[in-house]
Amino acid sequence: MAQLRMNVQAPVARLFAKRWSTRAFDPDRPVETEQIAACLEAARWAPSCFGEEPWRYIIANRFADAANWNRVLKALAPKNRLWAQHAPVLIVALAETAFSHDGNPNRWAEYDTGQATICLCLQAATLGLATHQMGGFDPDALKRNLAIPERMHVMSVVAVGYPGDATALETDFQPMESNARTRKPLQETVHDGCWGEAWAPPAAAGWEARYQESAMERLPWFHHGLDADIEQALSQLERRSGTLLDIGCGPGTQAVALAKQGFSVTATDISPSAVRNAGRLAETEGVAIDFRVDDILNSSLSGAFDLVIDRGIFHCFPNVGDQQAYLATLRRLLKPGGVLLLKCFHKDETGETGPPCRYDESDIRRLFADGFELIKARNAQFQSAVMETAPKALFCIIRKL
Ligand SMILES: Cc1cc2nc3c(=O)[nH]c(=O)nc-3n(C[C@H](O)[C@H](O)[C@H](O)COP(=O)(O)O)c2cc1C
Ligand SMILES: C[S@@+](CC[C@H](N)C(=O)[O-])C[C@H]1O[C@@H](n2cnc3c(N)ncnc32)[C@H](O)[C@@H]1O
Repeated sequence: MAQLRMNVQAPVARLFAKRWSTRAFDPDRPVETEQIAACLEAARWAPSCFGEEPWRYIIANRFADAANWNRVLKALAPKNRLWAQHAPVLIVALAETAFSHDGNPNRWAEYDTGQATICLCLQAATLGLATHQMGGFDPDALKRNLAIPERMHVMSVVAVGYPGDATALETDFQPMESNARTRKPLQETVHDGCWGEAWAPPAAAGWEARYQESAMERLPWFHHGLDADIEQALSQLERRSGTLLDIGCGPGTQAVALAKQGFSVTATDISPSAVRNAGRLAETEGVAIDFRVDDILNSSLSGAFDLVIDRGIFHCFPNVGDQQAYLATLRRLLKPGGVLLLKCFHKDETGETGPPCRYDESDIRRLFADGFELIKARNAQFQSAVMETAPKALFCIIRKL
């Protein structure tokens, strides 16, 4: 499975990952006229206000008319020219700014042209073509050079071509071809009901997206075999059997290793894909585990467990209400004297990536004061095959009173 270069907050169609603005075009490979037609046809079916279809396009194809293509290239901002010179096709997107039925200004013309142009780009992506829209150009030069009527608004120039060699780009541009693509979080751009109330996507959607988009072994928390801290705690506690609940089991490696040791394991996660994949792992490894999709903050689990394993989920809950819900569920599910093995990011871990909360021993003692006793806390690490340095962790043994 190809890794996504973007961190999505909910699962989205692969096409949205396929479209991105490369600067590396194959200069020697022409774009077939049929493919250009398909892109323009996609744009043609865009919605528009009053059905006006105010978009207009001018195609400049280096392989068909190099002189004309050059006229478009020359109008681009110098920085854009550096890479766009390799794109075989440059498409100028224009908006007709008056309604045809009454001649009044069409204030949606630019909006609609943008809609049509993204349809063009998405269709290009499905065909394996790369696109890069540009606003950096001289519109007057384009109007002069291409005989564009004065009333038209020149909206963008779209470079189209087959993807090329990123190492052939100017060095400044090269990292942009592989850097993670970022966006503002939805909470910053979406309001709930009225202006000013941030709308937040369900956390479950983000987790599900991670598991749909990434191979298990590529997830930063993936740990092949039993975590050494859990292993050590179990031998210290001399626990080798009993009922065990692995919450936020993710890839299922911990649940499987614990089932192999003889525990009767229930393993839950909020992500259906994680649970499905973990189930497959258990099947391959020949162990029986009761896997369930369950939200620990609103859990439908029942039963009394000797042990609960939390390897990396409590630190995902910055909200006090969520922390309380988590604690109430654990108080309900753990037998008196039952033990929670908790591994979370340590306060000393200052890296930007990772969970929203980081704790030290005194935080855990305070947070688990009601109905629990902190038996042991020690500094540890989250061993990770994909992170350059293992994040600093806090490992705790907590007993339910
Ligand atoms: C209207 C518009 C104008 C843009 N102008 C330029 C530009 O002049 N030069 C450039 O390198 N990229 C330009 N871009 C590309 C954006 O920088 C790019 O879409 C954005 O960084 C998001 O990256 P992505 O398309 O890979 O998701 C433009 C994009 C749009 C939609
Ligand atoms: C950092 S991962 C750790 C996965 C696993 N424990 C491990 O060690 O590989 C956190 C896991 O918690 C799950 N999770 C997050 N919020 C949850 C919730 N409210 N209820 C259940 N699982 C949740 C995520 O889907 C993810 O699999």
